[in-house]
Amino acid sequence: MACAGRRCVAHPTRTGASTVPTEPEQRRDRTNVGADLTQRYRERFTASAAAFERASAVFPSAINHDSRHMAPFPLTFVRAAGGVKWDLDAHETVDLVMGHGSLVLGHGHPAVVEAVREQAGRGTHLGGSNDLEAECAEAIVAMVPSAERVRFVGSGTEATLLALRVARAATGRDTIVRFQGHFHGWHDTVVFGNRAPFDRPTSAGVPESTFGHVRVLAPNDSVALEAALAERDVAAVILEPGGGTIGKVPADPAWIRALSAATRATGTVLVFDEVVTGFRASPGGVQAAIGVTPDLTTLAKALCGGLPGGALVGRADLMGVLAFGDGRGKVAHPGTFNANPLSLAACRAVLPVLASGAPQAAATRSAERLRASWNEAFGRAGVDGCAYGEDSTVHLHLGDPTPTADARLAGAAAAATRLRARLLYHGVDLLGPHGWLSSAHTEAQLERAVTALELALGETVDGQAVPSSTEG
Ligand SMILES: Cc1ncc(COP(=O)(O)O)c(C=O)c1O
Repeated sequence: MACAGRRCVAHPTRTGASTVPTEPEQRRDRTNVGADLTQRYRERFTASAAAFERASAVFPSAINHDSRHMAPFPLTFVRAAGGVKWDLDAHETVDLVMGHGSLVLGHGHPAVVEAVREQAGRGTHLGGSNDLEAECAEAIVAMVPSAERVRFVGSGTEATLLALRVARAATGRDTIVRFQGHFHGWHDTVVFGNRAPFDRPTSAGVPESTFGHVRVLAPNDSVALEAALAERDVAAVILEPGGGTIGKVPADPAWIRALSAATRATGTVLVFDEVVTGFRASPGGVQAAIGVTPDLTTLAKALCGGLPGGALVGRADLMGVLAFGDGRGKVAHPGTFNANPLSLAACRAVLPVLASGAPQAAATRSAERLRASWNEAFGRAGVDGCAYGEDSTVHLHLGDPTPTADARLAGAAAAATRLRARLLYHGVDLLGPHGWLSSAHTEAQLERAVTALELALGETVDGQAVPSSTEG
C-alpha cells in the first residue's frame, strides 16, 4: 500500500489481476440487459475512482491532458510493459494509447530503459550543450530526407510553433495555410480548423486577430490550395502528411505532390507535421514513403522513444534564421529542456532500432490484423461502425461502416466516448477513438482486444444496442 497525501490507494503487487471481466462477470453483463455500465465500472475500478476524486480537488476536471476527459472517470495507471499496462486496481489492460503514439517499440524496451537509467546517473540536465546532441541530430539527418539542420525542442507543440515562426521570419509573410481536421498542437495559431466546425476556434483565450492570419482549407483539394497561394502572401502551408488527426482522412499523395509544387512556385514554406508519423510511418516518415521532401519537418513522439522531446528539422537556409548573426533578424529560441540529455539518451537508443523499419512493419501487421478483426466484430454484432487506419494506427468509427471524408472529420465523439469506457471496462485502452500498435503487442493481446470490442458492442443499455449509431 502506498500512501501519498490524504488518501491511500493500493498499488498492484503482481503482474495484473484479471485482464477482462471474469466469465461469471461476462455472463452477468451479457444477460443484464440495461445494466448500468457506470455502476459496474465504478465497482471494477474502485481505486481509480478514489484517485479521480482526489485529483478533482487539485486539477481542473481531474486531468492533465484534455483527451483524458471521459465518463464515468479516467483510470489511473501505475505501470506498463510491452503492449500492456496496469491500473490502480491491478487490472491488466491492453494498451493501444502507447504513449500517445510515441512508443513504437512498446513500453520498457530494454535498450531505452538501460540508456535512460545510465544517463540518469550521469546527469539529467547538464546546464549546457551535452555529448548526445550531435549524435542524435546526425541520426535524424541520416533518416529524415528533409533534415539538413536540426533544432531540439520540448514537444510537438513547440516544434510546430517554431516551424511557423521560422517560416514567417524567413519569408517576411504572416499568413499560414492549414487544413481541416489536421492537428498541430495547442499554441495560438493552430487552435483553429483542427476540429469541426472548422470556422471557429477550438480553444478559448486566443485573440480573434490571431486567426486573421490563418486560412483553413479542405484537404485533398488542389484547386483551393492554388487559389490560396496565388497572392504569394502565405508564409507556410502546414499539414499532417499522413492525413489529418492521425490519418482519419488520409492525404492523397498526388495532392501532396501538387501542394509541394505550388509552395515551391510561390516561395511558400512547406511544413510536414510528422509528430505522429515521423519514424513510425517509415524510418524516414511519410516524406520518405511518398518521396516528397518538405522544407521543414516537425518531429516528436517516437523521436525520444516515449520521453518528452521534439525537433524542428529542415533546409539549412531556412533554419539559418535561428542562427546568431544571420542578418535576417533572429528567431528567438530558448527552452530549459531543449535537447534534454535524458530524452536524448532514449533518442540515441531508439533511432538505430527504428532505422531498420522492422519494428514499424511489425506494428503495421498488428494494426492490419486488429482492424480486420474489429471490422468482423462489428459485422457479427450487427452494429454500424468500422475500424480503419493507415500503417500502425487504428480509428474506430461509429455509424456508416464506409464513412465519407466529411463523416470521418465530423467524428462520433459522443459515441466514441461511451465505447471507450466499455472498452476500458473490458480491458483495452484507446485514446478516444484512436489507437496505435507497437512492435511489442502480442497475438494474445490482439485477441484480447478483439474480445473486448465484441463484449463492448454486445452490451445493451436502455434497451438499445450500444453504441447507438445516432449518438455521433
Ligand atoms: C500531428 C501532431 N502535431 C503536433 C502534436 C502536438 O504534440 P505534443 O502533444 O507533443 O505537444 C500532436 C500531438 O498529438 C500531433 O498529433
